[in-house]
Amino acid sequence: MSKEYDAIFSGVIGQDYDMLNLICPLATQMSHLVGETLKNYAENKTEKLTVVELGGGTGITTLALLSAGDNTQILSIDNEPVMQNQAKVHLHAWVESGQLTFSQDDALTALQKLPDASVDVIASAYTLHNFLNTYRAEVVSEIFRVLKSGGLFINGDRYALDDISQHTRATQEEVAGYFRVLIAEKKLDVLEHWIIHLFNDESENHVMRQSVALQQLQTAGFINVNLAHRVAVNALVMAIKP
Ligand SMILES: C[S@@+](CC[C@H](N)C(=O)[O-])C[C@H]1O[C@@H](n2cnc3c(N)ncnc32)[C@H](O)[C@@H]1O
Repeated sequence: MSKEYDAIFSGVIGQDYDMLNLICPLATQMSHLVGETLKNYAENKTEKLTVVELGGGTGITTLALLSAGDNTQILSIDNEPVMQNQAKVHLHAWVESGQLTFSQDDALTALQKLPDASVDVIASAYTLHNFLNTYRAEVVSEIFRVLKSGGLFINGDRYALDDISQHTRATQEEVAGYFRVLIAEKKLDVLEHWIIHLFNDESENHVMRQSVALQQLQTAGFINVNLAHRVAVNALVMAIKP
């Protein structure tokens, strides 16, 4: 991502963006890619698009979605108020303009409250991999239900490699990177948090394995299921509701 892009995001989001960019630049890049994908989709549309974001966090992905243009109406869902309250502060200009609203429900509950075929795009970054496999399966069914025909699902996330040995090596390199960066920054508390969290991501009842995840979308009814921009354990997945 360009320095200019980083400066804009850092200016709005502040320290959270800078820290994530330092620890895991692939994660901030993935948010930008999610935003670019929305932009490409929105370019051909004349009507205002309804967009639902799952797991907005402090607002990095939300800002990428907002940067895609102003012909969107975005509902950002996150059930962690400490994270979402930061997004509300960072993105208050879009809240005031009416383009952005928030829900503090968990993703499944929030989706269950939405009518069938009522949303153009459901977008997310680094949220679905946190879900229990059983919960994720329910969320995927709900995403399919609430999308309109022709609607798009975009997810930039940790998609575990099907080759488990290769995945382990990629994860080991990732861990080495956390140690390198966070020891140099003297952020041992952040290092501890990231390592502990990684055990959750890699556990059998959470891990979002590429082939399983893509098959799950196909089984739900999605077409044009596509995984792109893979770098190490990160990838962008897109799917269309027919
Ligand atoms: C790693 S952060 C990603 C934030 C942002 N999308 C990004 O890429 O920087 C994951 C977010 O998902 C939220 N989250 C996790 N499980 C959730 C759930 N079941 N429903 C709604 N939000 C959830 C967490 O609170 C957290 O803010």
